[in-house]
Amino acid sequence: MLLFLIIFNLEAVVILGIDTSCDDTGVGLVRDGKVLANVVASQTALHAKYGGVMPEQASREHLTVIDEVLQQALNEADIKLADIDAVAATYGPGLVGALLVGLNYAKALAWSLDLTFVPIHHLEGHIASSLALGEVKPPFLCLIASGGHTSLFEVAAWGDYIELGKSRDDAAGEAFDKVARLLGLGYPGGPALSNLAALGNPNAFKFTVPLKNQAGYDFSFSGLKTAVSLLLEKQADADKADVAASFQEVVVESLVTVTLRAVKNSGYRKLVVAGGVAANKRLRQRFAESDLEVFFPPLALATDNGAMIALAAGQKLAKGQNRQAGLSTDALPYLPLATKARSKASS
Ligand code: KG4
Ligand code: ZN
Repeated sequence: MLLFLIIFNLEAVVILGIDTSCDDTGVGLVRDGKVLANVVASQTALHAKYGGVMPEQASREHLTVIDEVLQQALNEADIKLADIDAVAATYGPGLVGALLVGLNYAKALAWSLDLTFVPIHHLEGHIASSLALGEVKPPFLCLIASGGHTSLFEVAAWGDYIELGKSRDDAAGEAFDKVARLLGLGYPGGPALSNLAALGNPNAFKFTVPLKNQAGYDFSFSGLKTAVSLLLEKQADADKADVAASFQEVVVESLVTVTLRAVKNSGYRKLVVAGGVAANKRLRQRFAESDLEVFFPPLALATDNGAMIALAAGQKLAKGQNRQAGLSTDALPYLPLATKARSKASS
């Protein structure tokens, strides 16, 4: 079989990136690693009445808005479809119906415009969101904390990822959302809960830090959510701001302790914190107190978006991309981020 590798010189190359892995329709345009446009159509209002994401509704909504979101991104970047050099989209992990919309849309676009298509792993996109900051170069550690994932990666180089640990149950953002719901704060509850926590006493209630005695890098948040639920059953009049602050403190403590353990064992001095929970003020404050070089992507790139997918594609194109292979990629709801190298943290 003839392997037809295209290596892109990224100068002036325009990449379109699409993410529809969950409930945001994200379309981004990137040139030379610079974000030209990043348009996200959020479905929050649609799912709020269910208290969580309704997968079928999410797929339909992606289908309804994706044309318009692309058009908005082109307008924002002031370019035309003909100016695009490559198309990228998330192929997993995520809600399969939702993934299929963005993936098939992107593949069809690439095919019809005769462009290279680059399939991207959603978490690789989150890691690549740090590229928007310019000066962040591997090796570094990356904590991804979102509504769907909580994982700690060693990024030895672009494309060389080792997952040191992940949540054994709920993701950190999921825990924020579930506890926010218990407190009657609506969906998604992360931002509302952290605002309320700012008014409360973080020491009012003593919740146990999950997996406190482990030597590894895993997380667990479902027991903590149950502990909050039991507390509210027993003490219905508990001050909500105190509960929010005490809960948040323990989530943040867990994320920071596990990450700093990996920092100590690996010797890396750089840390990227990505995903929606990277917006949390207390988490930012705690990491800022460390003596590490800590990078938080801009808020618009921390939560799900298309620009991070285009940024990740840029790294792949610079290394060489098989022009034909991308188009046969299928959507994969469960998809680990492949790793090759030996971990510094565990050696
Ligand atoms: O990365 P993201 O937009 O989507 C996923 O890939 O899941 O993350 C969304 C998650 C939600 O669970 C939301 O509640 C949480 O990030 N989140 C926060 C904050 N802002 C968003 N959690 C805690 N504090 C915040 N300020
Ligand atoms: Zn995400």
